[in-house]
Amino acid sequence: MKLSRSQFLKYLGKGIGALTLAKSGMLFGSSKQFRTLPSLAAKKGGFPKFQPIDPSDRDSLILPDGYRYNTIALYGDRINSKGDTFGFNSDFNCFLPFVGKKDSGLLWNNHETLGALEYFVNGYDSHKPGPNLRTDQQIEKYLYALGGSVISVSKKNGDWTMTPDSKYGRRIHGLTEFRLTGPAAGSPAVGNKNKVFGTFANCSGGLTFWNTVLSCEENYDYVTEPCKLTNETHYGWVIEVDPFDSESVPVKHTALGRFAHENAATVLSTSGKLVVYMGDDAKDQHIYKYVSKNSYNPSLGAGNSKLLEEGTLYAANFDKGIWVSLDFDSSEILRNSKKENGENRFLSQADVLVYCPDAAKTLGATPMDRPEDIEIHPLDGTVFVALTNNDKHGNLFGQIIRILEKDGDHAGLEFDFEVFVAGGKRSGFAAPDNLAFDGSGNLWMVTDMSGKNLNRSVYKKFGNNGVFVIPTSGPDSGRAFQFGSSPIGAELTGLWFTPDQNELFISVQHPGETTKDYRNPTSHWPHGGDSIPKSGVVAIYLK
Ligand code: FEO
Ligand code: CA
Ligand code: CA
Repeated sequence: MKLSRSQFLKYLGKGIGALTLAKSGMLFGSSKQFRTLPSLAAKKGGFPKFQPIDPSDRDSLILPDGYRYNTIALYGDRINSKGDTFGFNSDFNCFLPFVGKKDSGLLWNNHETLGALEYFVNGYDSHKPGPNLRTDQQIEKYLYALGGSVISVSKKNGDWTMTPDSKYGRRIHGLTEFRLTGPAAGSPAVGNKNKVFGTFANCSGGLTFWNTVLSCEENYDYVTEPCKLTNETHYGWVIEVDPFDSESVPVKHTALGRFAHENAATVLSTSGKLVVYMGDDAKDQHIYKYVSKNSYNPSLGAGNSKLLEEGTLYAANFDKGIWVSLDFDSSEILRNSKKENGENRFLSQADVLVYCPDAAKTLGATPMDRPEDIEIHPLDGTVFVALTNNDKHGNLFGQIIRILEKDGDHAGLEFDFEVFVAGGKRSGFAAPDNLAFDGSGNLWMVTDMSGKNLNRSVYKKFGNNGVFVIPTSGPDSGRAFQFGSSPIGAELTGLWFTPDQNELFISVQHPGETTKDYRNPTSHWPHGGDSIPKSGVVAIYLK
């Protein structure tokens, strides 16, 4: 079904009609929309009714009056009968309901880093200067704490809870075997390997149309060094996991390039190609999109995973408003690019993918201010990108931009863009990170001010990291309303609505990250008292 612009606006005016279309995936085909029903927001008449909270430096997960939360899984909780345990520093969440159910399903959760809090997991003091004295056993424990978890969850007596004995409970971690797919698999650029071990630094991710999870390896170099791993080319990819098949071998899709992957926002183009928008979260790095060669075919189910093996990777040039192809064969610039010693920089598509940021730079992609999460607006198909900040050129508070693809075609090669909202005193937030839309098109956003900046100098006014709701239409379009405030040292991550949008899953990552003295951690979330801080995932409800 195709709508003309005037028909579309009419549907928008009807509200529920538009939401029904969005829910059915007829509009813009974002995979998240299939699970986006009229929300807690929409039920209250377009925008969630809450009294915005003030910034806070308290050690609590603070929500507006009338809202509550419970913890679902915390670091170290058992997730299956084999005794596997939930990993550290929770990030991306993705809920996949069981067929025909809305109150039970599988929750995927990313485990990003250990960082300075390794002491609480491993007993190893990473603050201590000097050589890396981690034992093999400590390194194993380190790698096991990262990656992701599949947990089985259901709603009991009004609360989402984990089933610790579920057959679906599964850990994917820093020691798990992976199969490489795509042009770099088996190539000299990855040491001729088709099989590699481990995933870590899993930041955000995405959901496919065939109910698998994409999880993004971001700052892998923060892990390779402490864990004495020598071949970095095996990390920095987008992985795919089928949470419903606990025997499946997870894969790393090299066609999507290798960089500090933040997220993977999936959408179908007007001609049915799978398009994946991705950010490279590093200073002066780029925004990418991948367009599959073939079209999505719902009858193939998990067979559609092949769409992530063959396609074209593009990087954004914002000066010209164009997507630049990173295809080796058709690019003279890439084929002729030389290193300082006169050798060819790239010998194959595999080299281009493994050294993606270099290739994008060579082709004139625009350096950005740390591209974090990217999400597709469920009602108009525009592409929202959080740019966290970039102190290299004085952008301390970041901004959210909106990309408008020409003719609304996500597979197209031209675009326009605007700054949707900038961080700072007036907007009341700094360092936007993960994004999520509710069914009414309100943008939910979390912030990630770093531990060294929190509650200091120009960042003091923002308090701890928070959750904000930003309408994208109407008189309050672009105004940020604070909905949540995190415990001390934490960031809130992985916003994901339940199918009926009555609840919101969210992770509390690295509470107490600002700790200097392990005997006196700066946070005691969630248990309070003298307890050590624990990362984990919570569900938020209207009381
Ligand atoms: Fe892991 Fe880009 O935040
Ligand atoms: Ca992030
Ligand atoms: Ca971040």
